[in-house]
Amino acid sequence: MIDVEAARKVLRANDRGGHTVPTDGLYPFAWSWDSAITALGWLTFDEARAWDECHTMFSGQWDNGMVPHILFHGGNAESYFPGPDVWGSNTAIPSSAISQPPVWATAIRMMAERAQDRALAESALAKLMPQLIAYHDWWYNDRDRADTGLVRSYHPWESGMDNSPAWDTPLMRVPEVEWEYQRRDLGHVDQDQRPHKPEYDRYLYLVDFYKKNGFDSDIIYNECPYRVVDIGIVAILQRATKDLVVLCRQTGHHAAAERMEGEIDRTQSAIDKLWSPGHRCFFNYDLVADEPLEEVTTGTVLPLFGGLAGEQQAADMAKLLDEWIDASPFAVASTHPSSPRYEPQRYWRGPIWLHINWMLALGLRDYGYDDVADRVNGATRACVDASGFFEYFDAESGAGCGGGDFSWTAAVALYWLAD
Ligand code: DGY
Repeated sequence: MIDVEAARKVLRANDRGGHTVPTDGLYPFAWSWDSAITALGWLTFDEARAWDECHTMFSGQWDNGMVPHILFHGGNAESYFPGPDVWGSNTAIPSSAISQPPVWATAIRMMAERAQDRALAESALAKLMPQLIAYHDWWYNDRDRADTGLVRSYHPWESGMDNSPAWDTPLMRVPEVEWEYQRRDLGHVDQDQRPHKPEYDRYLYLVDFYKKNGFDSDIIYNECPYRVVDIGIVAILQRATKDLVVLCRQTGHHAAAERMEGEIDRTQSAIDKLWSPGHRCFFNYDLVADEPLEEVTTGTVLPLFGGLAGEQQAADMAKLLDEWIDASPFAVASTHPSSPRYEPQRYWRGPIWLHINWMLALGLRDYGYDDVADRVNGATRACVDASGFFEYFDAESGAGCGGGDFSWTAAVALYWLAD
């Protein structure tokens, strides 16, 4: 049984006025996909506050349309690293220089459909629609210049699945940063639940790379030492673009709707290149080495959520997920437990994230696999029952990991589990 009042209390405690921090201390600013998921939670009990969450994040949109993954609004810069000075983006609201999985249009469509206050929803949409369209145009124009149908990504942080073993090979090819730094995350969370130093050295090299190149999109597109097709981003973008088309048609943005339909078709035509019949999932792709990244993670079955899978592919992925749920005591483990790189409590190398479970369940239902979707829902409840509203959950013990009183976990409990 979800404790709705306790979940609301988490959002209220993390509210910094217009934006919600993911958790106090560890993440003291506004993160993009956290805010989108959190807005859905707010909508269940405070619609005005839910729309404000969207407006705040889009107030930091770059002139080229990108919505940065972090907006350094207020917050205690001392408790987080790397802060705005390291990113050096020089924008009106200091921000990072990469984006995050583009779940916004999906969240906003759901909000628009569920909102009781119709006048408020319509005025919010009037403001948000041009911003959402510019954001999606940015993905397709800036991140897929050759019109391949598959947008590219420049940082594991952009995937939101930072430390996934899927990124090990391309990340280890990136040079290490040469300056000394002090991590702040380890002051908040046990080292066994966070990335190692060799990964951080390379995360920071990439941050420096963008800054040294003046955030020049052409240079980064061609020369960034880390360039991957992230199947999670591709799938989330595909669903979001379909949702955006519906919103565009409802609000009279017909030219944008047609443009987006072209992008949807292009991605659909390209996706089979990433399918691995032997593994029954889609793989990420390393554009620098020109080879697939063969690691089975929850990202690699997100094409269910994007509606990108054919009937047989969906059947194969539903079967894979059904078995995957049985492969660890708590589910769905973010890296498949059969992987030698599976670690049940380390950041994205095995633990469970509830918003990913929600996406998987939605995708499974869309394809008619209600039985497996119900199992994912049950597994998600088991995490909350075991440990409450943590950032993520140990796939072997169900123990809460990372930050406590976490906004998106509470939000998923409110809009999905308590629904
Ligand atoms: C972090 O600092 O761990 C974040 O995930 C980066 O976005």
